Amino acid sequence: MASTHGAEVLVASNRGPVSYTADEKGSLRAKRGGGGLVSGLSAIGSDADSVWVCAALGDGDREAVRRAQGGLLPAEDTGGQRVRMLDIAPDVFADAYNGIANSVLWFVHHMLYQTPLEPVFDARFRRQWASYQAYNRAFAEALAEEAAVGAAVVVQDYHLALAPRMLRHLRPDLRIGHFSHTPWAPPDYFRLLPDDIAAELLQGILGADRAAFLTGRWADAFTACCEAVLGPGITTGTAIGVHGLGADADFLRTRAHEPDVDERMTALRREIGENRRTIVRVDRTELSKNIVRGLLAYRQLLDDHPEWRERVVHLAFAYPSRQDLAVYREYTAEVQRVAEEINAQYGTAGWRPVVLHVKDDFARSLAAYRLADVALVNPIRDGMNLVAKEVPVVSDEGCVLVLSREAGAYEELGEDAIGVNPYDIGGMAQALHAALGMPAGERAERSKRLAAAATALPPAKWFLDQLAALER
Ligand code: G6P
Repeated sequence: MASTHGAEVLVASNRGPVSYTADEKGSLRAKRGGGGLVSGLSAIGSDADSVWVCAALGDGDREAVRRAQGGLLPAEDTGGQRVRMLDIAPDVFADAYNGIANSVLWFVHHMLYQTPLEPVFDARFRRQWASYQAYNRAFAEALAEEAAVGAAVVVQDYHLALAPRMLRHLRPDLRIGHFSHTPWAPPDYFRLLPDDIAAELLQGILGADRAAFLTGRWADAFTACCEAVLGPGITTGTAIGVHGLGADADFLRTRAHEPDVDERMTALRREIGENRRTIVRVDRTELSKNIVRGLLAYRQLLDDHPEWRERVVHLAFAYPSRQDLAVYREYTAEVQRVAEEINAQYGTAGWRPVVLHVKDDFARSLAAYRLADVALVNPIRDGMNLVAKEVPVVSDEGCVLVLSREAGAYEELGEDAIGVNPYDIGGMAQALHAALGMPAGERAERSKRLAAAATALPPAKWFLDQLAALER
């Protein structure tokens, strides 16, 4: 049912702007999420005309939804923003999020399947698919309830590929956009999905008036998949858009100079030691981020160029992510194992070659950005990669960016970065060597240009441009 006083602008995403943890006494603590997505979507504003619909992700969130009696979260937790969190049945949510979104769709778009990690499309997969449909339906129904007549709705990411079409059926009056934050797989890879599933996913997104992507490359792949799976000319009813997402320069520059970041810098300097260069990386422990090959490239650098031993430290921050999935837990353990191996092989009494931190700490990440001489961003595939954009903005002395050609950010930053093939360990070792040896003047010039390019598309502009395009 369309509500008469509904919202004019709506956002839908799996992960919302706030999450809850309960302490032993049962009090709930609200924590605001970080990152470009939250800051971009926050441009939705906090007036009565907008609503953000998201899923409850854990027990704390579910409790918060119960206390909100299924309605909007308390304004003091959301900074005034109207947020409706959906308490989707835990088994349905787990199948949709862990089973389909993160184990199948994420793997397809990032082309991550490799023996022995192969796709399995069996009866269990079909049951999970039914949950993915139900999860998408729950979002579509909530959006249909909250939206005013003719409202604009922007649906985010691969978790919600079916929701646009479902919403279109419920509310033909709405203007619906879908935005993909991931790469899109090329047709030959996408078609490893069962035919009916591939078609349903594409038709789900084509239910939107506009489907948008972070780069032209992912938008073209989507169109190519539509043509290959559904037939020529099929996308004519849906506009295809491209909106790059940049770093939030004002926020980052202010936040990176707060006292907690200074404290972390002092601690990190102690871990690094005197007169040493730093190679910095910050990622979720995520297979697509290619952390292990990055470490192997660093090991090869120390092997091929003994002159860097004792003179460089690799700060590798790999924050736990999606740990419900065994393959992510194993990957996290592998990252730790390889880092320890390198330290055992090369470390000396006064020098630890790899400083690995696995506990999420945003202030410490910013401290590492400030100290970075070289930033290593080497994903196998990545929709954009904001770290590549953030480090040049924050680094105190300017940094050299070693960047995978397969990151969306490469389209905007490639000219001033050192580009690498993320599978080529030797090539990445050479790139690190070149980066460490780059003359200070060239490094400063390039870093300045990188920072300018990285901040050209602030998150609020990214969001408002999408809305404006939906208006047309
Ligand atoms: C990627 C996705 C986002 C997601 C984020 C963190 O950037 O595009 O939609 O929120 O990863 O992953 P998580 O599973 O923790 O939400």
